[in-house]
Formats: sequence, structure tokens, C-alpha cells
Amino acid sequence: MRAMSQPSLAGRRILLGVSGGIAAYKSAELVRLLRKAGAEVQVVLSDGGARFITPVTLQALSGHPVRQSLWDENAEAAMGHIELARWPDLIVVAPASANAMARLATGMTTDLLSTVCLASDRPLMLAPAMNRLMWAHPATQENAQRLRTRGVQLVGPAAGDQACGEVGDGRMVEPADLLTAIGDALGSGGALAGRRVVITAGPTREAIDPVRVLSNRSSGRMGFALAEAMARAGAAVTLVAGPVALDTPAGVERIDVESAADMSETASRAARDADIFVGCAAVADYRPAQARAQKIKKHDESLSLELERTEDILERLRGEQPALFMVGFAAETENLAENARGKLARKRLQMVAGNLVGDGRAFDREDNTLTLFTAEDAAELGSGTKRELAGRMVERIAEAYDASQSAGTADARR
Ligand code: CTP
Repeated sequence: MRAMSQPSLAGRRILLGVSGGIAAYKSAELVRLLRKAGAEVQVVLSDGGARFITPVTLQALSGHPVRQSLWDENAEAAMGHIELARWPDLIVVAPASANAMARLATGMTTDLLSTVCLASDRPLMLAPAMNRLMWAHPATQENAQRLRTRGVQLVGPAAGDQACGEVGDGRMVEPADLLTAIGDALGSGGALAGRRVVITAGPTREAIDPVRVLSNRSSGRMGFALAEAMARAGAAVTLVAGPVALDTPAGVERIDVESAADMSETASRAARDADIFVGCAAVADYRPAQARAQKIKKHDESLSLELERTEDILERLRGEQPALFMVGFAAETENLAENARGKLARKRLQMVAGNLVGDGRAFDREDNTLTLFTAEDAAELGSGTKRELAGRMVERIAEAYDASQSAGTADARR
């Protein structure tokens, strides 16, 4: 069904695979619509696809060189195929020929498109297009079923007149309908659709010498769960992650950092065009005043380390962007409400998520208990897994962000 309004795909990255079929001409229109909706588009054109549409057309519309071969040294030097496979939020193959579907179903990598799909953990959407008998053939139906059970989303085919003169199932769905399906898959109708979010997560590591560090017990789970939930709600999410052993959530851009200073620089750069910033990382408050160039040997009975303060990332960002909507975390061992409210005011945040830590609570565990503090109220999110709490928290962030925007607009009108 066609959506009433255009989805917003601002900042979202779509890798469009165009395989061989007369419907390849429709992919030009799809690229145009995706760009208009704000998405960044890179096209991979198969040999078959290139017989129906020229790379020049797709390059002009997408604004990026079109990738055609695994063996193009110049293109590989600019962005290798593995990097290309990690680049998008969503891979769309439109049109998806019977041949392309067969290769994707069996994992045969015979060209750049099939290789990129196999090398990617990003969601995959196919818009099949072929003669009705090819679509109805048990071989294609089995491949379609196999792909579906693997989580691949098939959109269409639609029924109607075919280029070959026959009538039946096999037409590629119209680009506008595909745009709607892409918007839905990327959560463009979600509570944070079109918003750019930067979130820090995990611990930091501060070097003592080349082999030793000061760090903390943060696992990064809460921040990763939030990044995932915000992407699902339609936001373009950049996750600035300290050293953690977690997979990157689907559709999230991740930048790995190590020290508080790295995290601060990276977060500040990433947040320049952000709408919302969430500081979920357990950033070291102190670091060794001087990291030793050589490994410290155990000559002495005791050893003192002089520590100095690290920069507070939230305070830095508030200085740089007085109007940015910012959410912080308060991990406290006592007086939760008082301490969280103190942070809300001192760091001039719009929201603080408070939790009690210590005695085995919160850190390095799957579950947590959170309370959200704003200037107006305190909302208990209760207990649950960090993923459950992240889902609840994202709804509240979206509500508070929307309220802050309409308050801002009302202020501007006065
Ligand atoms: N934080 C930050 N930069 C730092 C330290 C903390 O941005 N160098 C952020 C955390 O990501 C979190 C919030 O600040 O969102 C709360 O961190 P915390 O260290 O507990 O707050 P402080 O105000 O430093 O208070 P405390 O004395 O409890 O450490």
C-alpha cells in the first residue's frame, strides 16, 4: 500500500543492486526517489543489469560512481567490496532476477553484487522481476522461501502485463511502492524518523604504560541496546564505542575509540549535525597524568600513580552546542534522585537516566532498573533487560525531543 506522505530517509544509506531484467529502467526512478527522500545511494550494477541500463544514468542520479566489477582496482582502492558491504543501512536488489535470487539463496558469489550481499550483515530486500513462468517455477519459489526464512524481505512481484507480452505475477513493484517498503524497513514511520543521533557507549581505557590501562566494568550493553532501538525507531545513529565485545547493531554507524580524549574528539565531531546526543559511556573521570613510554618494572614495593581529570564530554558538547538535546546517565551507589537531578542541572541536560550500581547491580549484566529524570518529572521505567529498557527509553526521548522542538518554535514566534 502506498503511504500518504513521503518517508524521510535523511542520512540513511542504501546500497542498490541492479540485476538483469527489463525492469532495470525502473531502478533509475527508484534512485531519484531515494535521493529526494534524503538517502545516500550507491549502486552495484550486475553485467546483466548493464545490458538494460547504463552506469552513466545511475551514476548521475545517485551522485556516486557505479560499482560493476569485483576486479576494478581503482574502485576497490576507493572503497573495497567488504567496506561497501558494511556501508549501507539496507541493501535493496531491484530488480532481482531469477538468476540473482538463485545466487543469493545458495550463497554463490559469482559477481560483485552476490559477493557484497554475502559479505554483509545488513538487512536485505529484494524486488523480484521476471517472466511469470520463471517466477512460478518451483526452483524460484524454493529460492524465494529459503530467502524469506533467512529474514530477507521480498517486495512483490506485482501482477499485470509483462514486457514479454504475457500477463501474470512477475512485474517489479513500482518505485514509489518500493520507496514506502524501504521507509518501513528503516523505521521511517518510527518515533525518531529523520533524526540524527550520536550516542557514546562502553568504558574508556586510559593508558598507564604501553601494556596497562585504567578502565571500568561497563560492558556497553545499555548503549548498544539504545543505539539499536533508536535505529529501529528511524534515527540515523552514530555509535561512538569504547572497547567492548559487542556486535554492531543493524543500521548503526559505529566508530571505535579507546581513551576519554579520543571519545571526546570523536563525539564532538560526530555531533556537529546531530539532533540528539546520548552520553551512555562510562567515561573515565581521571587518567594517568603521564602515560609511561616504557613498561613499568616492579622494582619498588609500592607504586603511586598521579591522575588528572579528563574532559567531561557532555559539558564540552553543551559549550559547543547550547541548543543540542542531550541525555546523560547517572550511575550512582546512593541518593539516586538527588544525584541524577544534580547532573541534570549541572550539565544542563534535557534528560538523565538514573540507575543504582554496586552490589552486583547494572554493570556487566543483561538487566537494569532505570528512572528518567527531566526538569519536570521523574518517570520509572522499571526493571527489565537492557533491550527492553532501551525500547521504553527511546519512546520517552522521542516525546521529550518533540516537546522541546515545539517549545522552541513557540519561543521563536514570541
Ligand atoms: N560523562 C562524560 N564525560 C566524562 C564523564 C562522564 O560525558 N568525562 C557523562 C557520562 O557519559 C554520563 C554522565 O556524564 O552520561 C554522568 O557521568 P558521571 O561521571 O557519573 O557524572 P559526574 O557529573 O562526573 O559525577 P560523579 O561525581 O558522580 O562522577
